[in-house]
Amino acid sequence: MAGTTRNALPKGFRSAELGWPELHRIPRPPHRVPLVGDVVGVNLRTPLQDSLRVGRQLGPIFRRKGFGKEIVFVWGARLSGEMADESRFAKHVGLGVANLRPVAGDGLFTAYNHEPNWQLAHDVLAPGFSRDAMESYHAMMLEVTGRLTDRWDGERAAGRAVDVPGDMTKLTLETIARTGFGHDFGSFERTRPHPFVTAMVGALMYAQRLNVVPVPLAPVLMRSATRRNDTDVAYLNRTVDDVVEARINGPAGEGDLLDRMLDTAHPETGERLTPENIRRQVITFLIAGHETTSGALSFALHYLAQHPDIAARARAEVDRVWGDTPQPAYDQVARLRYVRRVLDESLRLWPTAPAYAREAKEDTVLGGVHPMRRGAWALVLIPLLHRDPEVWGADTEGFDPDRFEPGAVRARAAHTFKPFGTGARACIGRQFALHEATLVLGLLLRRYELRPDPAYRLRVAERLTLMPEGLTLHLDRRSPAAPARPEIPAVSETTSASRCPVTGAGD
Ligand code: HEM
Repeated sequence: MAGTTRNALPKGFRSAELGWPELHRIPRPPHRVPLVGDVVGVNLRTPLQDSLRVGRQLGPIFRRKGFGKEIVFVWGARLSGEMADESRFAKHVGLGVANLRPVAGDGLFTAYNHEPNWQLAHDVLAPGFSRDAMESYHAMMLEVTGRLTDRWDGERAAGRAVDVPGDMTKLTLETIARTGFGHDFGSFERTRPHPFVTAMVGALMYAQRLNVVPVPLAPVLMRSATRRNDTDVAYLNRTVDDVVEARINGPAGEGDLLDRMLDTAHPETGERLTPENIRRQVITFLIAGHETTSGALSFALHYLAQHPDIAARARAEVDRVWGDTPQPAYDQVARLRYVRRVLDESLRLWPTAPAYAREAKEDTVLGGVHPMRRGAWALVLIPLLHRDPEVWGADTEGFDPDRFEPGAVRARAAHTFKPFGTGARACIGRQFALHEATLVLGLLLRRYELRPDPAYRLRVAERLTLMPEGLTLHLDRRSPAAPARPEIPAVSETTSASRCPVTGAGD
């Protein structure tokens, strides 16, 4: 179990030569420049796609070095499958994830395996992400999607294309804020992002820059960025603390995650999350829970627009399963099996959280060939794992949702589809994301025909997550089948201003 790892390993970045005694046997790019490393052809804006290109050339395990940091990458299905063995490997909190510690501390995503708060928070929060729990969030998700379709109806009527990643990010942020702690950022109504969102994006960008700035130069190169980051993090902390305090002293929420964190004791030990840890979890859910789903929806909409035959099949399913009910019920969402396959296939090609790190729990030998000391780690490159021809066949780039037909899934080896990570530290929000994304795709397919810009070629932007860059779509309203915007009972009239002090704070 992740929480019972013996003596903690040293924190901070551990370069590969410390943990892989026979590192020289792992292939690396041919032109290594002294001191700087494997930087020939590197684009700082697309480090992940650079690694995919290099990985395709070098094979299922390879290494790259940049500014003194050497990293081992794994993507072959056999080696990745081995690293999914929880008796030998566990999550490694390093590099990008560790850089988020000043913001998210020992919250679920950034906690070290040995930190007791991981197990406590996992046990307290897991029921809040079960399939059943989704039922209580379903009406809130419908309400937020109604705000999206209001906006898209307006854009369509004005003859404008819609900004898919921008609007999907607003949708998923509003959804997690609402279901997480009953807040409304008003993203669809604003012309500029809420200051909380600006501070969060600033803190994420800062953490990401730390990945590529050479460690000895960081204090000098990042001085002013560090000062700004301190201000951003302080603002995030203060506003979340105010939200939590208002909930403690005010009326209860609508059974959201914050209520759960405040009210639930651990089922066996009776322990509770501290206010400091609850703050960390709220920030964690906002970070982990919105861009990932937003990217998944955006890629799916791109592929649907590019494949009218697949869109027609998905739409026919929505019409058949939902009929003319104005508002799909909770259990009508999971019945959209083909729409779900479209989502899975999008996540195969572009898993929006594209890598996870695994470390050896004890000295071991990977693939029977590569010795690893306890604590040695590698980054699993999910987009390449999802393109391993041994698993997915020759045409790995083709978009084909039928790869996820039940028979095809059963025929594949375990641990070959990993968009949500693996093991004890896999994504706690998986069902949440799948319910939300399937519901939204269903509602959009039912309402609109999607017309791509004929000149658009997919470009993938790398933020903390992956996103189709510059994706816009033209919409045609379906007629006459598409029902009007559903009348959704307001979940509560007191969603934000009266209860949640985020509104007003510097807003
Ligand atoms: C399509 C959407 C999503 C994708 C692709 C995704 C992907 C992932 C991946 C790959 C991990 C493992 C990271 C690692 O091993 O270092 C992870 C962990 C996590 N995700 Fe997600 N995620 C998504 C949506 C969400 C949502 C909606 C939430 C919250 C509402 C969420 C919350 C978390 C948390 C808290 C963790 C850490 C779990 C732990 O270590 O105990 N994710 N996610």
